[in-house]
Amino acid sequence: MLPIPKTAPFAEEEIDLLNRVVGTASPIQRAWLAGFLAGLDASGAAHVPHPAASARPAEPLTIVYASESGNSEKLAGDLAKAARKYGLKPTILDMADLELSALTAAKRLVVIAATWGEGEPPGRAVRVYNELMGEGAPRLDGIEFGVLALGDTAYAEFCAIGKRIDERLAALGGKRVVDRVDCDLDFAGPAAHWIGDAVKVLAPPNAGGQVIEVDFGIKPAAAPSNDIFEAEIVEHVDLNSSRSDKETVHLALSFEGGAPAYEPGDSLELYAENDPSYVDDLLKAAGLSGDDRLRGEFVKSRDVTTLSLKAVETYAERTGHYYVKKLIADGEAKEWIVGRQLIDLVTNFPIALDADKLRALTRPLAPRAYSIASSRREVGDEAHLLVSAVRYASHGRERKGVASNYVAERVKRGGRVRVKLKQNRHFGLPAPDKNIIMVGPGTGVAPFRAFVQERRATGASGKSWLFFGDRTFTHDFLYQLDWQDALKDGALTRMDVAFSRDTPEKVYVQHKIWDRRAELVEWLDSGAYFYVCGDAKAMAKDVRAALVRAYADVKTLAPEAAEQAVATLEREKRYLQDVY
Ligand SMILES: Cc1cc2nc3c(=O)[nH]c(=O)nc-3n(C[C@H](O)[C@H](O)[C@H](O)COP(=O)(O)OP(=O)(O)OC[C@H]3O[C@@H](n4cnc5c(N)ncnc54)[C@H](O)[C@@H]3O)c2cc1C
Ligand SMILES: Cc1cc2nc3c(=O)[nH]c(=O)nc-3n(C[C@H](O)[C@H](O)[C@H](O)COP(=O)(O)O)c2cc1C
Repeated sequence: MLPIPKTAPFAEEEIDLLNRVVGTASPIQRAWLAGFLAGLDASGAAHVPHPAASARPAEPLTIVYASESGNSEKLAGDLAKAARKYGLKPTILDMADLELSALTAAKRLVVIAATWGEGEPPGRAVRVYNELMGEGAPRLDGIEFGVLALGDTAYAEFCAIGKRIDERLAALGGKRVVDRVDCDLDFAGPAAHWIGDAVKVLAPPNAGGQVIEVDFGIKPAAAPSNDIFEAEIVEHVDLNSSRSDKETVHLALSFEGGAPAYEPGDSLELYAENDPSYVDDLLKAAGLSGDDRLRGEFVKSRDVTTLSLKAVETYAERTGHYYVKKLIADGEAKEWIVGRQLIDLVTNFPIALDADKLRALTRPLAPRAYSIASSRREVGDEAHLLVSAVRYASHGRERKGVASNYVAERVKRGGRVRVKLKQNRHFGLPAPDKNIIMVGPGTGVAPFRAFVQERRATGASGKSWLFFGDRTFTHDFLYQLDWQDALKDGALTRMDVAFSRDTPEKVYVQHKIWDRRAELVEWLDSGAYFYVCGDAKAMAKDVRAALVRAYADVKTLAPEAAEQAVATLEREKRYLQDVY
């Protein structure tokens, strides 16, 4: 919308205020306002003299987000937008860039924090999070605050980081004015409500009279949206040999009318369906085999595998099952659910269920993220994914990951899938002349195929070095031919590989990093960027520890100084990771 001109018959501050309110209003809000003012004139009410209202300067609001995959960051933006409408002047800060001492000057503070790993802060936020929890954290006496926590009830440490930050801010003297809300994967509705409530509480007094009420009504998280693309599968290839115990599918998707505008480092969220045979077993166990409507709904749109503590509690509440109630009362439920799924609850503690009771134990089926393994500059209207089938056994039952087995077993070449772009502006390529080091074992190598393709297509002059690892050279060398070609044409300068099961002693990428430590540190000293992608539980931590040891050894540093050297890389955003 065009801004209200400076020549309008209002004071400069008032024009500013109007632009802030009307400029960001939706067409519906503007139409309402126009109608309201017209109605006011028609009724004559506008001629009633009012005392002149002075335009007060907007009150500051500090919004800090701790995010890995961008959800908290996006909500911070939503909050800022809503806050402006309530006479607040928001400043958004990534926790990764925060100087903790700056918080003491804040008057009002909102923290939106996700939990990662097993109850850990998002990678980029670790340093500041530890400072906040540490003894040196500044007092925050009287600062009004609220915390919104993002998480996933499938994890034992549900929203642990949001919970700890909330407690910590209070312990440091902050005044909690908005109660924390802990959001599950379908966070859109609860988060929008929380934001709507929070801005009202945090708004300066009397701001209520000057605002446009915004409808933050619940939006279903998995609802079809324009952002969802349907793509045709044009390649579906298992990159492991038939003698490998793994199955890793290279999936090439073709988009009619253009691929989503992705960049190297971005992911696609894939909307999968459940395994119909799992749903059949679940319905049979629940005595609901004949319910075809429920079957269809469960296959397509409900998370019927995750067993959260909340689901166990709901089961106890809705069915009154004696032994489930006892499990909770004895404090054993949290341990019991480890490695189990919904079907274990229903088969181990059978009781008459109806469709509503069973549905109440489930949540919407969330899409799964997959790093994009291609560059649009090389593949045009396609996007490539690399999907490893998750299969394991626990508590005497064979289990299959929902989305990865949907890809591996149930979609075929010529079929269609639904995906949504998930951008990651924290994992992009640097300037073309910068050198890059990429550490990506297993499916962690996917984004680096995109990096290498992009650098080839753009003729980037920077050197690139890839560390890859998997189980065996013969059966598990993902994209082997691609790397050979890239080494030949110069898109890849060098490559080190670690195959853990080819030698009696297991060799992983971190061992290769150690072996090559002198050159690695030299690359980093001359400005190279260091990227890590893949397993978060062990690999990412081991790689970081190996790099710290490499610095200590090559530069003869004390362990603390070597740690500082890697922390400096992180601060400079030259140590970047996308781990899961
Ligand atoms: C940003 C990002 C990028 C990603 N990129 C890729 C990628 O490029 N390629 C890729 O393959 N994946 C990638 N993933 C992971 C992917 O999103 C899915 O998590 C993965 O495919 C599993 O999903 P699923 O639906 O098959 O399994 P789910 O149905 O979600 O089941 C997985 C769950 O099963 C349980 N589980 C798994 N193994 C075991 C075991 N051995 N013992 C006990 N329990 C177990 C765990 O609770 C685990 O959370 C990425 C994730 C993120 C966040
Ligand atoms: C690898 C991985 C680990 C996670 N660990 C936890 C966890 O321990 N506890 C939790 O509540 N949520 C966990 N989550 C869920 C995230 O917190 C959730 O997806 C959140 O919306 C991410 O927000 P962000 O995009 O701002 O990072 C995890 C998600 C992933 C992919």
